[in-house]
Amino acid sequence: MSPPLDGVVIVTGASSGIGEAMARQLTQARVLVLVARRKERLDALAATLSNAEVRPCDLTDLDACEALIAGIEADHGHVDVLINNAGMADLGLFEVAEPDKLTRMIDLNVRALTFLTRRVVPGLIARGRGGILNVSSGYGLTWMPVAAAYVGTKYYVTAFTEALRSELYGTGVVVTQVNPGPVKTELEAIAGTPMGRPMPDWMQLSPEQCARESLQAFRRGRAMSIPGWLGWLMITSGRLSPSWLLRLVYWPVGGYLRAQGPSS
Ligand SMILES: NC(=O)c1ccc[n+]([C@@H]2O[C@H](COP(=O)([O-])OP(=O)(O)OC[C@H]3O[C@@H](n4cnc5c(N)ncnc54)[C@H](OP(=O)(O)O)[C@@H]3O)[C@@H](O)[C@H]2O)c1
Repeated sequence: MSPPLDGVVIVTGASSGIGEAMARQLTQARVLVLVARRKERLDALAATLSNAEVRPCDLTDLDACEALIAGIEADHGHVDVLINNAGMADLGLFEVAEPDKLTRMIDLNVRALTFLTRRVVPGLIARGRGGILNVSSGYGLTWMPVAAAYVGTKYYVTAFTEALRSELYGTGVVVTQVNPGPVKTELEAIAGTPMGRPMPDWMQLSPEQCARESLQAFRRGRAMSIPGWLGWLMITSGRLSPSWLLRLVYWPVGGYLRAQGPSS
């Protein structure tokens, strides 16, 4: 079963990175709704596409999320596909994380994704066709220190998406998740670099390839996609390693970073 990517498709977090790359590849959509906060970025992207409309929205505000979906339904009748891609990370020792940033991350990665999905799913079931594509992370499948709360949000996305997929079996609604390893986007600029240096380029997948493999898995109705062979290798080896081994490997990291100073 394939999701109706030729209908009304919402992409959250379309102003940069994976969401922008997905938007550029969703050429079949009748209406492509681009959502993020930076309107000027969305306008510039929409100007290069023939099927896009811009709906700026701060997704951490659930009233704004409600107004977003209500506005799309008022103008286009219904939603066919929701791509929950918008997300942020906060990396570093949990004890020095900014409380406001943590709250925003949870609001965006967990609350907004849940709210938007709850808002559109009844319509998809009623029409017997539709799709939800949730962008989780490799951190939704394994874990590491200096990403405690981010890992927690992505475990939520992974478990939520799997459970929802089971619930919607037989309804005609496709539910897929994507679990990328490192992708070269603006995420790191906001997340921080706890190890003191950016991730080397060779370890990072391009957003275009990540988007392409994610949309391909979605089109095929797959449960999950881990794009890129290197990301797949890193995440799969983490998933297959016993917890005692991961604990052994990771336990010195917190102590090492704490020893570097309070800003870690
Ligand atoms: N890059 C990676 O290595 C990686 C790996 C695994 C998973 N992921 C996941 O991939 C997804 C996309 O991230 P990315 O790597 O493409 O990062 P990115 O380039 O920073 O893009 C994040 C997007 O989310 C939007 N966003 C952030 N806060 C928002 C808010 N309050 N309301 C609405 N939109 C908001 C941003 O737009 P505005 O700032 O304009 O609002 C932007 O379009 C995220 O869910 C992330 O967790 C990324």
